[in-house]
Amino acid sequence: MSVLITNIGELTTNVPERDAVPQPGAVPGPPLVLSGAALVIDGGRVAWTGPASRAPAADQLVDAGGRAVLPGFVDSHAHLVFAGERGAEFAARMAGQPYQAGGIRSTVAATRNATDGQLRANLRRLAREMLSQGITTFECKSGYGLTVADERRSVVIAGEFTPEVTYLGAHVVPPEFEPDPAGYVELVCGAMLAACAPHARWVDVFCERGAFGRDEAAAVLAAGMAAGLEPRVHANQLTAGPGVQLAVEVGAASADHCSNLTAADVDALASAQTVATLLPGVEFSTRHPYPDARRLLGAGATVALATDCNPGSCFTSSMPLCIALAVREMHMTTQEAVWAATAGGALALRRADVGHLGTGASADLVMIDGPSHAYLAYRPGVPLVAAVWRAGQRVV
Ligand code: NIG
Ligand code: FE
Repeated sequence: MSVLITNIGELTTNVPERDAVPQPGAVPGPPLVLSGAALVIDGGRVAWTGPASRAPAADQLVDAGGRAVLPGFVDSHAHLVFAGERGAEFAARMAGQPYQAGGIRSTVAATRNATDGQLRANLRRLAREMLSQGITTFECKSGYGLTVADERRSVVIAGEFTPEVTYLGAHVVPPEFEPDPAGYVELVCGAMLAACAPHARWVDVFCERGAFGRDEAAAVLAAGMAAGLEPRVHANQLTAGPGVQLAVEVGAASADHCSNLTAADVDALASAQTVATLLPGVEFSTRHPYPDARRLLGAGATVALATDCNPGSCFTSSMPLCIALAVREMHMTTQEAVWAATAGGALALRRADVGHLGTGASADLVMIDGPSHAYLAYRPGVPLVAAVWRAGQRVV
């Protein structure tokens, strides 16, 4: 059944208009948005976009009433397989305690003690939260199990909800391996990887002081890639360490966080395919300085925005919040922020079928209660998502 959404106040397609409305001989141009637009969904795909006045007929008609429509958000960084919560840690942090990577261990203990059913129910709730806020594609990491069995069940459960499953056995060294971190890296690259690789697409490592150093991180990524996984890296979150350079060297799809960059890091990202994924919810929730998005954009790097939803450093599932922070705190334009949360996220996941509304794309779209995409930052904290379609199905 085809669906025509018409009377769209502003349609963000993320593709040049010439692709959205094929017009032989038209001068190629980069307009990102159409006003007074319409969009046709057919077979779960975008079948047509263009001026409402020229829209073809369809089986079902939806009147957007002048609201804005944009691609579903693509959240390329989330840690959703966990149990427990760390509200007290957050409160202590807001009262002056520092954020430390070691806080991850308390979630590890809770996760190990949880049943599969509890982990699944928590993930289902968070996935639902994300969808209701317009996230139609999300990545999900393991990394709170840190035993062979607990990492394996983490990637298996994640795979019940998304194809973008990331093996993050190298999140932190668990307490039982404190005296033997090299032994833990060996496990991550050996038996744990063998148990997880069949259920994951990606391998990730938290390259940071207090987590894994350059050589350890390089070993984890090399082992993961040898097992057929594609690399992505937690890089330069707390310190200007070696993570970004390593990510670029191994051809990672994404270097995530990028909150502390040297000039050489910016140059490396600007001249590589590796996407710089910024996670401003983390800086908001840890009261750290925001990443320098303008410097990255000015240098020509590709920037994505993601939630990093996790129980420690940032417990938000709201991409609109991240967009608002990127605009207000990181000086991204509203268009840059929306692009980064859609097309940027898709590039960070190497997905060509999502993050845009070109003809043939997955019909993943968000309608907001406002006439333009700018409302996502202009009306911070307001539940603006009026409707969501995923693969052509109305889901919110
Ligand atoms: O992306 N950086 C490492 N991992 C998470 C934090 C996880 C936690 O504190 O539980 C992050 O911020
Ligand atoms: Fe993370």
